[in-house]
Amino acid sequence: MTRKIIIDTDPGIDDAMAIFLALKSPTLDVLALTTTYGNVSVDLATKNALTLLELAGSDIPVAKGVAKPLAAKALPAPDFVHGKDGFGNINWPASNRTPDSRSAAQLIVDMVHQYPNEIAIVALGPLGNLAKAIELDPTIVGLVDEVILMGGAITEKGNVTPVAEANIINDPHAADIVFGADWLVTMVGLDVTHQVLMGDELLSYIRDNNGEIGEFLYSATQFYFDFYQNRLDIEGCYVHDASTIVYAVDPSIFTTEPKVIRVAVDGVGIGQTIAADPEHKLALDYWENKPVANVCVGVDSERLLTFIKTTFS
Ligand code: RIB
Ligand code: CA
Repeated sequence: MTRKIIIDTDPGIDDAMAIFLALKSPTLDVLALTTTYGNVSVDLATKNALTLLELAGSDIPVAKGVAKPLAAKALPAPDFVHGKDGFGNINWPASNRTPDSRSAAQLIVDMVHQYPNEIAIVALGPLGNLAKAIELDPTIVGLVDEVILMGGAITEKGNVTPVAEANIINDPHAADIVFGADWLVTMVGLDVTHQVLMGDELLSYIRDNNGEIGEFLYSATQFYFDFYQNRLDIEGCYVHDASTIVYAVDPSIFTTEPKVIRVAVDGVGIGQTIAADPEHKLALDYWENKPVANVCVGVDSERLLTFIKTTFS
């Protein structure tokens, strides 16, 4: 039995790792990629997504999504993390393939209706495409199996500000819409991704056992490793986006708690994911009558890394 997923992505080095992991997972059926700005512009993200699929020998559709946040000020692309090309400046030849003629939001709506209650949307970037899809057709909320998103932090510090994670601060209004919609949202945030470190040994294993994909991931990730070493004094890198794919296949690797999540959309706390316990009666009603998300709070790091190694065997 396979699980159908659409990956919404801003590739991005760790997005590339997540996409290849999903394509190699025998129990996942990746139906499409939709793209967003974030690590790079949406035009480059779309080109990169097409390049990754060509490399992987997959011809699933890629639909281009939003180019900027719904309402917040756009932030500069973090080229010091992913390189100007989004792939660690390795000059990998770009694909000549062309994207689907539909917008990302339209593709999501179409596929959700084609496979009602069967699709999980795995979101690896800012959440504008999901917010747009809800705006285009609010009925999809009741027809999506699960939204599994990499983003946010509830007790862990942020990675852009002391409280904000990159994907959420890049479009806080969209994130608040996604958490506020009545579908099952699982948040795979920094609370867990900061507990999983991939080092050179695993990356070299991936290179040695995966042909051109392995060469690509190894080369691109050198820039990412350098960022972690030079800016954070960490050997290796955190496993952000790929953790969502692991969750989609084997949620037992994680522990979760039910939380109501609101996103701060302005001020010094912009981008913070503020979690309330569902039963907690609070003096202010921001969290009242809102859907309850499934928030990952713990992870078995060893099992997660073994999952990645086995999938890339
Ligand atoms: O905070 C980590 C997230 O930001 C990942 O999705 C990474 O690709 C960047 O977009
Ligand atoms: Ca990403």
